[in-house]
Amino acid sequence: MKNMNYSVISVVGFSLIFNAVLVSTQSLAIDCGAKGGKDEDGRTWVEDAKYLSKSENSVQIQAGYQDPSLLSTVPYMSARIFPSPATYKFSIQAKQRYLVRFHFYPSTYQSFNVSKSFFEVTAGAVKLMSNFSASITCQALTQAYVIKEYSLAPSESETLEITFTPSANHSDTFAFVNGIELIEMPNLFGMMKMVGYDNPLGANLVDASSENLETMFRLNVGGQSIPPGKDVGGLLRSWFYDEPYIFGATIGVTLQADKNLQIDYRNISKSSAPEDVYRSSRSMGRDSDMNLKFNLTWEFHVDPNFTYIVRLHFCEFLYDKPNMRASNIYINNETAQGGEESADIYVWANGKGVPVYRDYAVLVNDGPDDENVKVQLNPSTLLKPQYYDAFLNGLEIFKLNDEKKSLAGKNPDPSAMMIRTENDPRSFSKTGDDYVVVGATGGAAAAFVVVALVVFFYTKKRKVDGVESHTASWLPVYGNSHVGGSKSSSNHLASLAQGLCRHFSLAEMKQATKNFDESNVIGVGGFGKVYKGVISGGTHVAIKRSNPSSEQGINEFQTEIEMLSKLRHKHLVSLIGFCEDGGEMCLVYDYMARGTFREHIYNNKKTNLSWKQRLEICIGAARGLHYLHTGAKYTIIHRDVKTTNILLDEKWVAKVSDFGLSKTGPDMNQGHVSTVVKGSFGYLDPEYFRRQQLTEKSDVYSFGVVLFEALCSRPALNPSLPKEQVSLADWALSCHKKGVLEDIIDPDFKGKIDPECLQKFAETAVKCLSDQGIERPHMGDVLWNLEYALQLQETADGMKSRLNLAGEQGSNHSRDDSSVGHRREPSGRSVGNELELNEGKDESAIFSQLANPTGR
Ligand SMILES: *[C@@H]1O[C@H](CO)[C@@H](O)[C@H](O)[C@H]1NC(C)=O
Ligand SMILES: *[C@@H]1O[C@H](CO)[C@@H](O)[C@H](O)[C@H]1NC(C)=O
Ligand SMILES: *[C@@H]1O[C@H](CO)[C@@H](O)[C@H](O)[C@H]1NC(C)=O
Ligand SMILES: *[C@@H]1O[C@H](CO)[C@@H](O)[C@H](O)[C@H]1NC(C)=O
Ligand SMILES: *[C@@H]1O[C@H](CO)[C@@H](O)[C@H](O)[C@H]1NC(C)=O
Ligand SMILES: *[C@@H]1O[C@H](CO)[C@@H](O)[C@H](O)[C@H]1NC(C)=O
Ligand SMILES: *[C@@H]1O[C@H](CO)[C@@H](O)[C@H](O)[C@H]1NC(C)=O
Repeated sequence: MKNMNYSVISVVGFSLIFNAVLVSTQSLAIDCGAKGGKDEDGRTWVEDAKYLSKSENSVQIQAGYQDPSLLSTVPYMSARIFPSPATYKFSIQAKQRYLVRFHFYPSTYQSFNVSKSFFEVTAGAVKLMSNFSASITCQALTQAYVIKEYSLAPSESETLEITFTPSANHSDTFAFVNGIELIEMPNLFGMMKMVGYDNPLGANLVDASSENLETMFRLNVGGQSIPPGKDVGGLLRSWFYDEPYIFGATIGVTLQADKNLQIDYRNISKSSAPEDVYRSSRSMGRDSDMNLKFNLTWEFHVDPNFTYIVRLHFCEFLYDKPNMRASNIYINNETAQGGEESADIYVWANGKGVPVYRDYAVLVNDGPDDENVKVQLNPSTLLKPQYYDAFLNGLEIFKLNDEKKSLAGKNPDPSAMMIRTENDPRSFSKTGDDYVVVGATGGAAAAFVVVALVVFFYTKKRKVDGVESHTASWLPVYGNSHVGGSKSSSNHLASLAQGLCRHFSLAEMKQATKNFDESNVIGVGGFGKVYKGVISGGTHVAIKRSNPSSEQGINEFQTEIEMLSKLRHKHLVSLIGFCEDGGEMCLVYDYMARGTFREHIYNNKKTNLSWKQRLEICIGAARGLHYLHTGAKYTIIHRDVKTTNILLDEKWVAKVSDFGLSKTGPDMNQGHVSTVVKGSFGYLDPEYFRRQQLTEKSDVYSFGVVLFEALCSRPALNPSLPKEQVSLADWALSCHKKGVLEDIIDPDFKGKIDPECLQKFAETAVKCLSDQGIERPHMGDVLWNLEYALQLQETADGMKSRLNLAGEQGSNHSRDDSSVGHRREPSGRSVGNELELNEGKDESAIFSQLANPTGR
């Protein structure tokens, strides 16, 4: 599979170092139901049969479908199925802690229906999973496969028995597994305090050294994702980017250690975390006064009724003396470090560039609002440090087994996670919610340390650099998982979707489109054609017809149906139904009478939309995107925001469309190269190329281009212009910088845009185009700023029309939005509140300083 190429180098690099440093770690990877082989990282997986007791009644089987998001065919494309209980036996070292990872790929396995598979998994006396459904879990995570990772306590035993037991109460149920990893690990767990229990007798202490744990989250705070091949100690852990878990609009700033700074593991095991974790951090910012007003907050969704260990990794890499900065730490609103005991990392580590970590235990109860772990940092004022600031380098959350030695939680509930009413007022203020950034990032891997010997791999990698990170175009992702996949591979149409939208027959489709008559074609995408049509009852619809020859197309259609049928928003094009009949697949949408936003901005059809109408259309589109990003308990990244994907209905209401259907389609057949071109030129987030990591900030970038298109009435790319003007994004940024932006706005708007409105609008668009995602605002902030710009315009127009009224009574001063059906709804923040606005300005000022963190 593609996308693996980066890992090849990193793993080679890794094992070279690994041997050289003489760390000896035993590690085993078994390829269940198969003879074994190498995965795309070059790691060897061995046959599983010899670890199974002879008598086992089990079935070796091949997956019927290879999901494009799979990282590797080994171990996913084969599975072992257990219709009755079965045990793998491994000989292990006594008194040794082990890391165990299970890989599950709920695909189609001949007559075995994975949606009927519910099972229990135990490791010795420890219950790891119970009534586990890989299929439901993947569906909820909208991923093709799931990896579950556990850390097993040291024991006296020299064998480890891992038993799979189908849940007896489901008829024809079975257990299955695709791969198991077993890795020796140092016992990195010890004593910690339980936050929220101040018991002087010490009953608030938890000793995890002989407990079993499940990994819930593992983040490289303020830095890039780290793929398994770049982990330390042979543990092959994945570290993810943290920003998606940040709660609230204040995300602080990210800092990088000086390249020449040595990271000195004098106080902790080298296996604790890779250097990269300690070389990057997220801090509150430069402005002490500002920092006192907020908490840097991360939030994670977890299973209730368990105790969790929160491990915070720190490394002071800026200052060389104590009391420069110190922070309070709160976990679930309880003080973990505070007052006299606030965290001065320099003191904890006794040095600059010396990593430390601290563990805290927290009990998470059952209850709709309680099933979270929330970590907050703010500056300690008591110790009067030089700077009021707080920072964090890495974060891990582990679930601790309960008193029955169980780690098993419930299956996630896909519907509860996916369906959230669009009018939930919280969705506006809440910018960060649970989700995982998909994709072990490949971009950075090439920079890995081992130089000479990996040159070959390096060159090999360069060719495919920029390769798409195996994500489906829809990117709905939900926290609590460690996998890089993103797309549900369920090979059946989600029954849920069938309940939520209409099922059409092929005959109905043919009738609606006059047998797919060419004269009804209104668009063409990589997947096939879009037709205009009328369905029974006279409703006008747009029908996307898949290219019947494309297997990939079918999967994309299913994804789009599953996702879209659950999303309803005034500013998203709605799916009315679908047709899956006679080898044809069609999606039926609301027909957007006024076509694309682009055709009203330029080209021959340019309409006389007033500035205010354009602004309202931008606001509508921003609202739709904001909903995609934060409106549900998972985040969806559109990936192809552009003016042709913003459609307008009869009343000029903007609706975001084409949630990526067209994008993964064509490139599947063509291998790597074409996958580079994901999204549209002129709109592509530069950082996406560099880091291979897609976040919702990529959409924000593209939206910034849309804003300039609306302002300047020209395409994002116009190759016929002089070189420096070809790319609208670059050109607009340079004009803005030189203070001559007014020269490039649409001449029709000259003198009609209120200067303050223009300033606010341009400022917002410029911020969206920041080179680094982290500097770009969240969609919620973009929305708020645009609304504010609109108010400035309305105020100015109001004043003008009052003047006009006074001057020439009865003149034509009709409000120019009379044809615009879209009215702004109150959004809680849209009332132009000066105070709030000023704060917002300060914040962005801070964020924009990020480039030079040491210059304080
Ligand atoms: C698999 O099982 C589910 C749930 O029991 C059922 O809805 C579905 O139709 C089955 N699929 C096949 C292909 O039998
Ligand atoms: C199966 O059902 C019986 C009673 O209906 C119950 O006692 C038992 O705990 C169930 N077993 C499982 C594995 O759910
Ligand atoms: C790290 O430092 C702490 C105190 O600063 C000390 O208690 C602990 O033993 C040290 N750990 C190691 C591995 O040196
Ligand atoms: C959590 O514990 C409470 C109290 O023991 C119990 O009522 C509840 O059902 C448990 N919740 C889950 C999800 O197990
Ligand atoms: C923490 O405080 C916030 C705000 O007061 C509240 O909404 C939330 O439920 C609290 N969380 C916990 C875990 O107590
Ligand atoms: C930061 O979080 C803590 C714990 O939830 C809370 O007590 C405190 O008021 C918060 N501070 C600010 C400035 O929001
Ligand atoms: C097993 O999981 C399914 C899906 O989450 C749930 O509907 C069912 O009630 C569970 N069964 C048991 C015995 O817990």
